[in-house]
Amino acid sequence: MKSQIETLLQGKRTIGVICRQFGDTGKGKFVDYFAEWADIIARGTGGANAGHTIKLGSNEYIFHLIPSGILYDKDGKINIIGGGTAFDPGIVCTELQALRTEGLSYDNLFFSHRAKLVLPHHMLLDRLRDAGGSGKIGTTGRGIGPVYEDHYGRIGLTVNDLLNIDLFVQKLRRNLRDKLPFLRTQDPEVIKGIMHHEHLLAGRYWDEQKLISEDAIIDQYSKYALEIEAMIADTEEMVCMALGDKNILLEGAQGDLLSIDYGSYPYTTASDCTSRGLAKGVGIREGELDLVLGLAKAFYMTRVGEGPFPTELGEMESEKWCATNKKADEAEFVKIATVNDSNELTQGMAIRNAGKEYGATTGRARRVGWLDLPLLRYTQQFSSEDLILTKVDVLSQCEQIKICTDYTYVGPDYRLGTTTLHAGDHVRNAIPAAEVLRHCQPVYKTFPGWMKPIDDVRSYAELPTELQTMIRFIENETHDAVQIVSVGPERDQTIMID
Ligand code: IMP
Repeated sequence: MKSQIETLLQGKRTIGVICRQFGDTGKGKFVDYFAEWADIIARGTGGANAGHTIKLGSNEYIFHLIPSGILYDKDGKINIIGGGTAFDPGIVCTELQALRTEGLSYDNLFFSHRAKLVLPHHMLLDRLRDAGGSGKIGTTGRGIGPVYEDHYGRIGLTVNDLLNIDLFVQKLRRNLRDKLPFLRTQDPEVIKGIMHHEHLLAGRYWDEQKLISEDAIIDQYSKYALEIEAMIADTEEMVCMALGDKNILLEGAQGDLLSIDYGSYPYTTASDCTSRGLAKGVGIREGELDLVLGLAKAFYMTRVGEGPFPTELGEMESEKWCATNKKADEAEFVKIATVNDSNELTQGMAIRNAGKEYGATTGRARRVGWLDLPLLRYTQQFSSEDLILTKVDVLSQCEQIKICTDYTYVGPDYRLGTTTLHAGDHVRNAIPAAEVLRHCQPVYKTFPGWMKPIDDVRSYAELPTELQTMIRFIENETHDAVQIVSVGPERDQTIMID
């Protein structure tokens, strides 16, 4: 096993672990897996919209911002939250507290001075706008969209502003001047309700007259500044200086299909969570990445929130169900539903239950569908050709497994650059624009399942032949190279392919 990892990483100094789908493909496991090798582990995109469950002592914590590598044996390893991220100091301080509670030190943790600072009203705006109606994205409510909007609108604050309180106050006032006219047009009771959410410190920033208390923000953010000031650094320089000399692991967030630049726009997050965005977000050139490992769940996939998902089991019914229901809401169904259910909605529930597909950040039920190769072909164009297939054990009891090989376009005429898509057209590489993707009907190839547990299998040769056939099918269809197959959450449940 060891020598196979060494072979994969031979001659590599900087690698990235990203997701080739809609997120939640198990990056945490593989960041942990490669953390042993790495000297520097850095995040460069997204913010507290990501979430990974971490076991510390006898307690389980959900971490949103601090890189998973923080728990790895220290030995000079450095963990970084890079400049491309949306940095919520409240969440970070809570996560630092959890580390302290467990008696863990974090003197190897640094935050980029360029990271985009999340302010309370970013969360408020995110929740107000995404409350419902036709434009709903189904965001995580962590202020991600508004914080990046401010960055590109050139009125954002950065983590460095926490170190210069007078400048912080000036910039905060400028920023609030931009937001308040809109907020005053909204129902104050709705605003009050949101401002009392626990993520907004249960009313700490609420002001009956002004809606938002500038003084409370200044006071609270000054406290955060005191707690984290020693960790604020020029992390971009740290990473650049280490290039070619140290082993650097870049930890992706979300997934290619949620990228603001390449994803199923507008149903995306607000950062570019591809390897390109990740490299930029930690301050290096994309070309510095010696290897990008792209994760894809197989042989099902998931999506959280709104947006097109061609292979979704139960289609619209599932989308609606998952928009409002959490794990507890489907407890009765999953007692009787099986992964072979003839009803696709309940089959999806059973797969969700088997794969524990409930959001770490929001608790929401993740929408479940079959593996989609047109989407995988599309993400390969700007991502990587080296695949890690994750959660492969989840469908071990499935009698028949479908893989979507192509689409048939069934929508109205759609002009796309110099061509026009017509109903009945065959689509091989997905076109991610939401208005196209939602009119794409999957064409499936059905495979017999392998019908036995594989969580104890440790070599490719021992995998059931049915499963090997499907892996080779993916490679032939996408021209990706499957490097690793994950057959369970534990580190050793990892099969390297020669
Ligand atoms: P936002 O990033 O909170 O603005 O949410 C935008 C969209 O991205 C929503 O559909 C979210 O469900 C989705 N999203 C954001 N973060 C994650 C993640 O870590 N995993 C899966 N989906 C995510």
